[in-house]
Amino acid sequence: MRTGPDTPMGKLMRRYWVPILLSSEIAEPDCPPVRVQILGEKLLAFRDSQNRPGLIDEFCSHRGVSLFFGRNEECGIRCAYHGLKFDIEGKCVDVPSAPHMAPKMNIKAYPCIERGGILLAYMGPPDKKPEPPEVEWCGLPESHRFVPKRLQESNYLQAMKGGIDISHASYVHRYEVHVDPMHQGTKANDYIKADGNVILDIEKTDFGLTLYGRRNGEPDSYYWRITQWLFPLFTRIPPFGDHALGGHVWVPIDDHSCWAWSINFHPRKPLSAEEREAMQQGKGIHVEYEPGTFRSLANKSNDYLIDRRAQKEKRTYSGVFGFSMQDASLPESMGPIQDHKREHLLPTDKAIGMARRMLHDAALNLEKGVEPPALDAAAQRVRAAGVLLKHGDNPQEWAKRHLADSVNEPVYSI
Ligand code: FES
Ligand SMILES: [Fe+2]
Repeated sequence: MRTGPDTPMGKLMRRYWVPILLSSEIAEPDCPPVRVQILGEKLLAFRDSQNRPGLIDEFCSHRGVSLFFGRNEECGIRCAYHGLKFDIEGKCVDVPSAPHMAPKMNIKAYPCIERGGILLAYMGPPDKKPEPPEVEWCGLPESHRFVPKRLQESNYLQAMKGGIDISHASYVHRYEVHVDPMHQGTKANDYIKADGNVILDIEKTDFGLTLYGRRNGEPDSYYWRITQWLFPLFTRIPPFGDHALGGHVWVPIDDHSCWAWSINFHPRKPLSAEEREAMQQGKGIHVEYEPGTFRSLANKSNDYLIDRRAQKEKRTYSGVFGFSMQDASLPESMGPIQDHKREHLLPTDKAIGMARRMLHDAALNLEKGVEPPALDAAAQRVRAAGVLLKHGDNPQEWAKRHLADSVNEPVYSI
């Protein structure tokens, strides 16, 4: 599933708004520019003197020098080598040695918007630009959300598949759910631990897929964890009690690595100071970083600080601590691009198979001129849930009534 500019999947991904970097990485007008690699393209993000964000080719059209070393001033980046200057639209506005050449020296640029503390770019054909995403946390005030990213050293698809793999929580996360401050004290944990054999039901929708994971609940009910995959990048996490809701975005950097955005939010109240502190310390779906980077301290190069004793003592299932690196270590262990021919999917992998098929079909269809799916932003206002439903109740019917437009609904969580 390669996503470079000329690949079928790359062309498909470029038809959606793609998270690029934290708004705070380019915090103020005329700030230092930041190198960004997304979908295999080397780009440069900056904010101009009028505070407008821009995403342009990293390299100067003169002799290919990186504009990272340029001067960001007076509404543009000036190349440090011979002074060519480019604005946020990639327009060359000055060629000091040959001003008449400026119109011929433009570089590529992509439109950007800011939502929920993230800068998103649209890298596809200008006339096909969709509505900005309406994913719930994108519209919340800063006080209500925590939106960090971490590097994942695997292909986007391997990473994203973890986000729709409802069954793994009963295994790799099982010994920590009751101690983690972002999950503890909830009935959800008991059901997840008691029943590792999730029965999956999947529904194809306007936005992607809805996944219904059924576990045993009370004697007369099932515990359903219901979550959505917003094609092709966003996943949600069914909630735990009153804890903050969660979700991810999986963004290809190149074919071997991706950004795993891990988002927590409360729809109607600010995150508490304790919650924010726990997130900053790497609890819940977060990590502690190598200083000055977006790479986790526990990472591939140190076997994620695996602790075999803790594994024996059942303090961690795999020996790796923290949900986030448990989730990263296993897909990374498959290698940067897994050979799917060698795997044997099980019934619990139904969502993964369907997501793969949807991506594959959409990419091939686009080659034939069929427009991509899931571009209706209004359909993205869905929310994940965890509920007990009586035996015989239809979870699809329930979800239609309660999860289709999250704006006016309470959070369904136990
Ligand atoms: S390489 Fe940029 S101005 Fe010459
Ligand atoms: Fe997980």
